[in-house]
Amino acid sequence: MSGRFRRFLLGVPRDEEVRRAREQIARDRDALLGDLAADEQAFAAEMRRRERTPHVVVGESLDKVPYRIPLAHLATGRDGEAAHAFYSGSTGSGKTMQAAALVDSILERLVAGAPVAVVVLALQGNFADLVLRALGARLARAPAERRRAVLSQLLTARFFRGATLPEWNILAATPHAPPLVQAGTIAEVLENALGASLGGRQETALTMLLALAIELALPISVLRLCLHEPDVLQDLARRSKEPLVTSYVLNRFARESAATIDGLGSRIDRLLSLDAGIRGALAGPGTIDFARRFEPGAVSALDLSGTPLGAEGARLAISALLVQSLAFAALSAAREVRGHTLLFVDEAQLAFTPATARTLATLLTTVRQFGVGLHFINQSLVQIPRDFVHLLATNIKWRFLGRSGRDDATLSSEFLPRTGRLPKPPSPFGPPSDRLEFQSRAEETEARIAAVGTMPSRHFLVTERAAPFGPREVVARDFNPPSWDALPGDLREALERGASGVPRTELIARARRAEADALARFAASREGDDVGEAPARPARRGRAKGSLPKTPDAITRAARWGRRDGDDS
Ligand SMILES: Nc1ncnc2c1ncn2[C@@H]1O[C@H](COP(=O)(O)OP(=O)(O)OP(=O)(O)O)[C@@H](O)[C@H]1O
Ligand SMILES: [Mg+2]
Repeated sequence: MSGRFRRFLLGVPRDEEVRRAREQIARDRDALLGDLAADEQAFAAEMRRRERTPHVVVGESLDKVPYRIPLAHLATGRDGEAAHAFYSGSTGSGKTMQAAALVDSILERLVAGAPVAVVVLALQGNFADLVLRALGARLARAPAERRRAVLSQLLTARFFRGATLPEWNILAATPHAPPLVQAGTIAEVLENALGASLGGRQETALTMLLALAIELALPISVLRLCLHEPDVLQDLARRSKEPLVTSYVLNRFARESAATIDGLGSRIDRLLSLDAGIRGALAGPGTIDFARRFEPGAVSALDLSGTPLGAEGARLAISALLVQSLAFAALSAAREVRGHTLLFVDEAQLAFTPATARTLATLLTTVRQFGVGLHFINQSLVQIPRDFVHLLATNIKWRFLGRSGRDDATLSSEFLPRTGRLPKPPSPFGPPSDRLEFQSRAEETEARIAAVGTMPSRHFLVTERAAPFGPREVVARDFNPPSWDALPGDLREALERGASGVPRTELIARARRAEADALARFAASREGDDVGEAPARPARRGRAKGSLPKTPDAITRAARWGRRDGDDS
């Protein structure tokens, strides 16, 4: 006869009932502790194993076990796994510091000569600043020869800060994409970031003109001036090797209305008018070699923080262009993949346009074959397109979830621990249960969501996909790079300038000169002067200085252009 049946027939003495209930509770508790201890042991064992390989430490568990991530896993997953990470948490939860501390650990390896590159794109806040100061601290202690080597590969571009900027002619032809593709991308970025949507017609116009400028190495500020110089544009179009561009400029552009052309001009103006130094940098002639940013030992600090009020559109345009350029370079078949690159984007939501979302999606799903690991840092998931959140969730290896409100915690619920071992809270009504009851899956999720809302800052719930242990609450390691003043003066200067920084004053002067040259050239061509006498810069458009242009003189068409009624061709 079973115990239950006997109890049913004979009843069980009260004392006996209580004793059994106590035993059951003890067994449940042991099982609970056993499960949790097994996970804790699996974590500790895995971390001991990782200690023997090159790794970085991202913090420690509540039991003070350092959480290690093998360096090799950071950029190339095993067997086709993703190697990307996503950090989110409310303001002040410590995301930027957590990511910067990770970058610092990687910089330690990089300075020591490991084949790794780091690209940091900071849309807001002090991420780039922290990383540069951390690099300074590492370099100050490094042998002189390593310091020189790292500084020679450093790119510092603090667009709204600092006294220098690298030249970055956004219309310099890249080896990674044909001019029309590159132009289409830039046109889309300018459209997304700098104004209300262009009509299809304007978009074509902008793409064709940008393609022409790319092909002929015309800086964007000079292209801007050309918009109102139809004859010059036509002369240039005749030099294009791209029949689509030539035909467009000669046959269609002439018929565009003044409103269309003004619309194009205003987009470009919003990019160029934001800051004279940036305009100088964008005017080239030099540009950033984005492929080199993926070479072992390269550090890139791309900083868009400190954006003045009203320049948010420009920040979006610049960051979107940076993302596109980095993506083209990363995914280029021509690039020889050597070592790993870690690409961090802090406040990523500020770089999102439809075009960047597409590019980032492509990166997320394909780039790991190219040895690149992406790290996205975002306050909230609500800020980024839902499709992208989905893609992130399926393509990341690490999820760092800091203190978060209900919406974000709910959107991240698949990364919350689910042990099935969370005791049910005692009911406020009726006698206490004589069994230890666990919460259902739904109840546990609900409780975890609430717990994420009260997590202390610097604490993160870290989920590592395919790890032999479950999600873990990790406390970020203390990170406190030296202040700028604490770094040696020459090192500080080298960090702020990077290997290719040019003083802003010099950039501004150069841009003014290029624009003045272009204007002088236009004036000369209108007056029928020998345009070959124009100063040196325009001579880069495929013609030796002083030689006569091969194309007919622009002036003969000036009168016809004035009518804009389509009989030009
Ligand atoms: N690991 C850490 N070591 C030392 N201080 C920290 C650490 N994490 C956070 N802090 C402190 O908390 C502050 C906020 O951290 P942090 O800037 O990383 O937050 P955040 O989540 O990036 O916030 P926001 O969304 O506003 O950018 C830091 O300025 C620092 O004072
Ligand atoms: Mg931050």
